[in-house]
Amino acid sequence: MSQIDYVVKPGGQLAGEFRVPGDKSISHRSIMFGAIADGTTHVTGFLQGEDSLNTLRAFRAMGVAIDGPNEKGEVTIHGVGIDGLTPPAADIDLGNSGTSIRLMSGLLAGQAFDVVLTGDRSLSKRPMKRVTDPLALMGAKVDTDEGGKPPLRIHGGSKIKGINYALPMASAQVKSCVLLAGMYAAGKTCVSEPAITRDHTERMLNAFGYPVETNGNQMCIEGGGRLTACNIDVPADISSAAFFLVGASIAEKADITLQHVGVNPTRTGIIDILKLMGADIELLNERIVGGEPVADIRVRSAQLKGINVPENLVPLAIDEFPVLFVAAACAEGQTVITGAEELRVKESDRIQVMADGLLAIGVDCQATPDGMIINGGSIKGGKVHSRDDHRIAMAFTMAGLRAESDIVIEDCENVATSFPDFIGIANRVGIRVTVSE
Ligand code: S3P
Repeated sequence: MSQIDYVVKPGGQLAGEFRVPGDKSISHRSIMFGAIADGTTHVTGFLQGEDSLNTLRAFRAMGVAIDGPNEKGEVTIHGVGIDGLTPPAADIDLGNSGTSIRLMSGLLAGQAFDVVLTGDRSLSKRPMKRVTDPLALMGAKVDTDEGGKPPLRIHGGSKIKGINYALPMASAQVKSCVLLAGMYAAGKTCVSEPAITRDHTERMLNAFGYPVETNGNQMCIEGGGRLTACNIDVPADISSAAFFLVGASIAEKADITLQHVGVNPTRTGIIDILKLMGADIELLNERIVGGEPVADIRVRSAQLKGINVPENLVPLAIDEFPVLFVAAACAEGQTVITGAEELRVKESDRIQVMADGLLAIGVDCQATPDGMIINGGSIKGGKVHSRDDHRIAMAFTMAGLRAESDIVIEDCENVATSFPDFIGIANRVGIRVTVSE
């Protein structure tokens, strides 16, 4: 693949009404659950990004007929039933997608066949012990490479059993892995989480007629059930909307409305944090679509101020920190982020990579083991590197709205994992960003 760089010119603006692509977490789950359901599942608004397409290809490789996605994001999944997956002919390559590998490790741990899950350079560095540990307690046989890294070699035919598991970290991927393995386990599986994390697995399994009981911070599932196909309307991804929530807050004279955005309360930390910083954000036309809360979001320019980000909001905004660091760089005063050590094991070490980039464009900031201290002020301009991380590339694009000179962002191919046509949308709404190959 040729290297793609972004060049952002200062002085961009933001105006208009638009819709960002479908939610990545919900898109992944729609394929996984549709594949093992009885009957035909219709999905609309599916994210046609590389990550969710990798999940789609993986289930095709295990014998599931899937039509689409067409240009409207419609996908039809001909479910094979809970025990209907068939052995893939080759290893399954999940590209950049942590959600695919972690959720699928649980879903596949109780199958009758062997399967190997691999990924790209970034995914191959990410920790998998967090899923193989609970799976081993359930009696599954899953090997990793040295240091608990992918590939994951899942040995089929294990009789797995339910467990009671306290998650060592606030992770929806690990919670989901254990719950999905729980469908194939004897007895009941319960997980408890140290802080609230996104609950799309619980909501969607319930929508597919497979009950997940939630009691406070504990979720339980009984093994041996079945899923019934249903229709899924994937809302726009609040994690993709986040770039524009920040962009419109920091740009001059901005006024945008983001349409049909998923505002599940386990995902809206970004809105709460930006409002604490003084952002002008309004939720309009709030409604429930297919079991998930959805709204249009209007954002206008505001003078942001620095805050201490409350730690309870961190897991609810976990993917939004790269762009929140940019918001903090444009705020008046100091912003302190703590309790966010999970950022170090995302697609890149998002604390280090963002601190390096912010320093390179003249922002006064300091990385800490579990967050960052940022003194808001001016952004100069310069060259930064995305380090194989889509959200780093998009976050620095927004920094260009307040920079004094060009920002060049190197290696932006990975934006395609979560936000196809980011550049097209960014330009249409007034951001001056071009691509150079
Ligand atoms: C996700 C959970 C989060 C998030 C990721 C998607 C999910 O990861 O960062 O982008 O769909 O369950 P963790 O569970 O590792 O926090």
